[in-house]
Amino acid sequence: MICKMLNIKYPIIQAGMAGGPTTPELVAAVSNAGALGTLGAGYMSPKDIRNVLSQITKQTTAPFAVNLFLPQVYEKNEQQILNMQKYLNSYRKQLGIPEVSSVPDMRDVFEQQLNVVKEAGVKIVSFTFNKPSVSLIEKLHDSGITVIATATTVKEAKELELNGVDMIVAQGSEAGGHRGTFLDVEDEALIGTMALVPQIVDAVQCPVIAAGGIMDGRGLAAAFSLGASAVQLGTAFLTVYESGASEIHQSAILTSKDTDTKITQAFSGKSARGFKNEMMMNLESITGLPPYPIHHVLTSDIRKEAARQGNKEMVSIWAGQASALSKKQSAKDLVENLVRDCKNTISHTSTD
Ligand SMILES: Cc1cc2nc3c(=O)[nH]c(=O)nc-3n(C[C@H](O)[C@H](O)[C@H](O)COP(=O)(O)O)c2cc1C
Repeated sequence: MICKMLNIKYPIIQAGMAGGPTTPELVAAVSNAGALGTLGAGYMSPKDIRNVLSQITKQTTAPFAVNLFLPQVYEKNEQQILNMQKYLNSYRKQLGIPEVSSVPDMRDVFEQQLNVVKEAGVKIVSFTFNKPSVSLIEKLHDSGITVIATATTVKEAKELELNGVDMIVAQGSEAGGHRGTFLDVEDEALIGTMALVPQIVDAVQCPVIAAGGIMDGRGLAAAFSLGASAVQLGTAFLTVYESGASEIHQSAILTSKDTDTKITQAFSGKSARGFKNEMMMNLESITGLPPYPIHHVLTSDIRKEAARQGNKEMVSIWAGQASALSKKQSAKDLVENLVRDCKNTISHTSTD
């Protein structure tokens, strides 16, 4: 049913991953392979989104999605920000970039981002970090757009369904990147995919998409056995040839082991799973980090420059708990291997 709703061949979604990994080539290759490619547009300017969407539509006529961050309410404490800038200046010094002692100007461009997506005729939009309002969902439905949103608990999934989303991503705590938690306390909303998916499936009527720790056909088979209608994979797509993930990011994933990741608020003020490193561990010892998205903006010049210099100790390297299962391959091969290995797993599953 979900394939019909999304007009795709396989119930596999490449997660929208903001920050560069989801190149137009990746999104198009995934959609051309029969799965659903997603542009992670959360951090992009409306102008950049417009450009990238036109590059995607030159490379595929298949459906694809755009993922956006819903705005959130946060407190701006100027003294806290200035204290953090002072602390972060030691990293800036080490990297040889200008020190900063000002409060950043924060502007929310969600409405403009969404307008560009609608104007471009994108038919599937996924959200994270909050719950889309009833009126927003109605407007998107009026434009013929299918709405997907992320839940990390049963309570969140029920609220998303009540507001009218078409399908829900059940994001388990194995998942790489930021947590979509918006109702529950972040530390308490850490339910593993195996436990979360069947509970959300039982609690809602709409299709559920399992996300978190799924890397191969065995993961797909497990998710479908738990009642998921589709799967969403992030980390597995970071090491395909078409991925825009940096060299540091890809090699960290390809050489990782099961215990390498940790959920942290150190880089952005919001819980996210990534590889442990020096900056993460140092910032974790500080109490009262500025909230997301402020802290994310404060650390961004450091993370960018560290990535440019190939310094993996001062950059956020998001990945899920099953990153060690990743492979270097094309997006098409990944999709085809997922489908074939899932079928093999299911046909060899026995309770004897
Ligand atoms: C590098 C990275 C960036 C991510 N960025 C986003 C994002 O912009 N929006 C979003 O909804 N989810 C994002 N996620 C989370 C994914 O949607 C998904 O929940 C997660 O990748 C699933 O777990 P896995 O990485 O083990 O496959 C990101 C994940 C990663 C690894």
